[in-house]
Amino acid sequence: MSRLKRTDRPYDIVLFGATGFVGTLTAEYLAAHAPEGLRWAIAGRDEEKLRRLRERLGVADLGLLRADVADPASLRALAEHARVVATTVGPYVRHGEELVAACADTGADYVDLTGEPEFVDLMYVRHDARARETGARLVHACGFDSAPHDLGVYFTVRQLPQGVPLTVDGFVTADAAFSGGTFASALGQFARGRQMAAAARERGRHEPRLVGRRATAPVGAPRFAPEVGAWALPLPTIDPQIVRRSAKALERYGPDFRYRHYAAVRRLPVAVGGVAAVGTLVAAAQLPPARRWLSERLKPGEGPSAQKRARSWFSLRFVGEGGGRRVYTEVAGGDPGYDETAKMFAEGALSLACDDLPPTAGQVTTVEAMGDALTERLIRAGIRFRVAAIR
Ligand SMILES: NC(=O)c1ccc[n+]([C@@H]2O[C@H](COP(=O)([O-])OP(=O)(O)OC[C@H]3O[C@@H](n4cnc5c(N)ncnc54)[C@H](OP(=O)(O)O)[C@@H]3O)[C@@H](O)[C@H]2O)c1
Repeated sequence: MSRLKRTDRPYDIVLFGATGFVGTLTAEYLAAHAPEGLRWAIAGRDEEKLRRLRERLGVADLGLLRADVADPASLRALAEHARVVATTVGPYVRHGEELVAACADTGADYVDLTGEPEFVDLMYVRHDARARETGARLVHACGFDSAPHDLGVYFTVRQLPQGVPLTVDGFVTADAAFSGGTFASALGQFARGRQMAAAARERGRHEPRLVGRRATAPVGAPRFAPEVGAWALPLPTIDPQIVRRSAKALERYGPDFRYRHYAAVRRLPVAVGGVAAVGTLVAAAQLPPARRWLSERLKPGEGPSAQKRARSWFSLRFVGEGGGRRVYTEVAGGDPGYDETAKMFAEGALSLACDDLPPTAGQVTTVEAMGDALTERLIRAGIRFRVAAIR
């Protein structure tokens, strides 16, 4: 708790987008779990909605800030009022940049829920250097994308010998539903393949090369994976990119590290059906009328019910190898998209605000910024990290 005392800013954490679907779950989590003395505030564009939320949360002295992404001065003020800004206002590629810029410029730490590689790459190109100057930590993807994958691979690596080449394969299984906000972000991404590739190339031109070590995340081929007893389909989410960045940043991943990321599906027809469904969605997202029709199926602010969420779960299995050892690990929990995302996001913000962390600045992954501390927090909060077997 030592960092809580060293500040002249009015709030330790400001939660922006607090009235949205994940925002509300995150506010409820903070209301229930914030340590005594934490000064936090909810922020958003609609003051009336914020007041109603504050009333429902019943937290004495909860701050309330009005800010709109269309009003850069309000975002600047928000960043100046906070040590840590946590934002759920997405799709980030559309709504996110001004706030990242404000945090980088004012030295506020920043954490979000994006799963959009284009946004993360552009923010690196445009704001990493300024954030390094001011000391701001810019942590993207601190929800189910990508905290449990990033922390799970790190947990696996730490079970393996040091100083030798390592490989880790990750296998994702989950049973869950989407919110309107996630659906909108996914549709937007599917329609922006060219922009995503261009942003990745631009990042490549700016990023320093890794010297004397290798860290890769190639797309694996579909295969039956006997090590997990399931069909493994390559999963092109942002997760492998984040894992690779952590591996580039930390020596502990060894001189030559490789990560491959898969969805694990028990039955072949389900695997084939899943690929076909995603393919259809990606194709439909290219056509504006189809995209509009799809986005109206699930509106912003809507999401799975508490009952549906209570039945949802995720399991990430990792198989790590190196130095003559093979290790099987698992990270598992409840509803990945919302309840657990709100937990990971809130704990990430709390960790940045409260924990003694390694000194970092600029765009950093969850592992770089707060790997050990956040893993401990998530374990205490009920997310399971376990070593299933070592051979
Ligand atoms: N990383 C992960 O695993 C993960 C998991 C879940 C969600 N997500 C992402 O998190 C984001 C939020 O999802 P959600 O389901 O909570 O979406 P949502 O319910 O639509 O919430 C979006 C929030 O953004 C606010 N907002 C929209 N336009 C704004 C503006 N001009 N100025 C200020 N605030 C504005 C909304 O305010 P109002 O309340 O006033 O409408 C709302 O609070 C999405 O990008 C989604 O993809 C990521």
